[in-house]
Amino acid sequence: MTPPKPAARPDKVSLWRYLKLFRQDILSAQPAKLYHAWMAEFRTPFFRSYLINDPALIARVLTERPDDFPKSDRIGEGLRPLLGNSVFVTNGEVWKRQRRIIDPAFEGGRLRDTFPAIRDAAQSAIARMPLGTVEIEEPLSHAAADVIFRTLFSIPIENATATQVFHEFKTYQRTQPILNLAAFLPLPRWFPRFHRAATKASARKIRALITALTQARAAEIATGQAPNDLATKIMTTADPTTGQKFNTEEMVDQVAIFFLAGHETSASALSWALYLLATHPEAQDRIATEAATLNATPEFSELSKLKFTRDAFRETLRLYPPVPMMVRETTKPEDFRGRPVKPGAQVVLSPWHLHRHDRFWPDPDAFTPDRWQTDTNRTSARDAYMPFSSGPRVCTGAGFAMVEGTLLLAMLVRAFQFTAVETRIPIPVAHLTVRAKDGIWLDITRRQPPKP
Ligand code: HEM
Repeated sequence: MTPPKPAARPDKVSLWRYLKLFRQDILSAQPAKLYHAWMAEFRTPFFRSYLINDPALIARVLTERPDDFPKSDRIGEGLRPLLGNSVFVTNGEVWKRQRRIIDPAFEGGRLRDTFPAIRDAAQSAIARMPLGTVEIEEPLSHAAADVIFRTLFSIPIENATATQVFHEFKTYQRTQPILNLAAFLPLPRWFPRFHRAATKASARKIRALITALTQARAAEIATGQAPNDLATKIMTTADPTTGQKFNTEEMVDQVAIFFLAGHETSASALSWALYLLATHPEAQDRIATEAATLNATPEFSELSKLKFTRDAFRETLRLYPPVPMMVRETTKPEDFRGRPVKPGAQVVLSPWHLHRHDRFWPDPDAFTPDRWQTDTNRTSARDAYMPFSSGPRVCTGAGFAMVEGTLLLAMLVRAFQFTAVETRIPIPVAHLTVRAKDGIWLDITRRQPPKP
């Protein structure tokens, strides 16, 4: 079965219709030709926008001259009450300094230290998992939030503050029904936008809770009692260039983005992965076979046993990249495939289209985890695969997310059998991440242990 893909809009629509479609769902607002084109230009009275699928252009924007293509100030607008000046929204020197402090906490070697907390969250998710016909995004959101709290602050989601942040965050999203990628449109300031009173109040509550956690941690660090987790690592790392550490306010900004970027994305990817496995039972069986070779309490070194599971997770990120599009801005005159582009134009990088582009991927809409072991896939993986973006602004949590996704998938499939509910085919829509319009529903039963 071909995994669900949103219907494309007709090639030509009026600007107002486009904007309306865009605000409902950015994926179905696009024409089908974007799965084939190297580039597309959108002209509106307010701005010019270029969606680029050409690997040379993408490399220019993300890798070769990223300083010339910053994030627009408007991007952060919808999220600023919650995220302040976090690394996700800053540019230039501020952003560089923040990355110098944050990156060491996520280095490859640190993943071994972070692993037990991820595994404990997986075990708790299994213990909590409801059986029967279940909407799976909800328990997986819970699991991914648990991963973040355990790895960042060494507390499980059952901790009173963690639970409050998680619930308040849901409220925050509810107060922003259009908290989707329309936030990235450089529309004029009179255009109805965000920051309702309820949204601001909710953001304030979340930040107060995170501030309490951060201050408590600062006190533990001061007395030498702090656990060796991501928060301690980040709060004790001095920028090698300036010698400065984060103050409380800056750390709260970063915690807010770790929570948001780290749990929404992973929950989206894991939900789609389980749906794909439910609709491809032979792939699910292969994961179950791999997972059966793990210790009851898996160790970091055993991740190397999960080759197929990792490929299935990679393939999920190809078909349903949790961050479907990213936006940058030109700051000088550019030449895009022979077309002159003025400063202030919007540049859209679209993992969603690139990952299903018919010039790069044979059978682009099919779920084929085995493609990751073929030689022919190498060029596409290099040129047309960027679920975590690329270049210096690449996702800080990319390595972390690959460990989390692979391990949770293996442990969940070892514990349960996931079966699709025929009457409920999920339709992908882009909110902050790629979610299903009416949730993802699966039948969950306990997996019978393999016969000896
Ligand atoms: C499957 C899971 C994940 C996916 C697909 C993902 C994807 C991305 C993408 C595409 C970006 C770039 C956005 C842009 O440039 O506009 C990004 C940035 C970021 N991600 Fe992730 N992410 C995931 C998990 C995580 C986790 C677990 C963390 C932290 C614990 C994290 C932290 C961040 C941060 C801090 C940034 C901002 C980096 C910067 O702008 O310098 N992400 N992520």
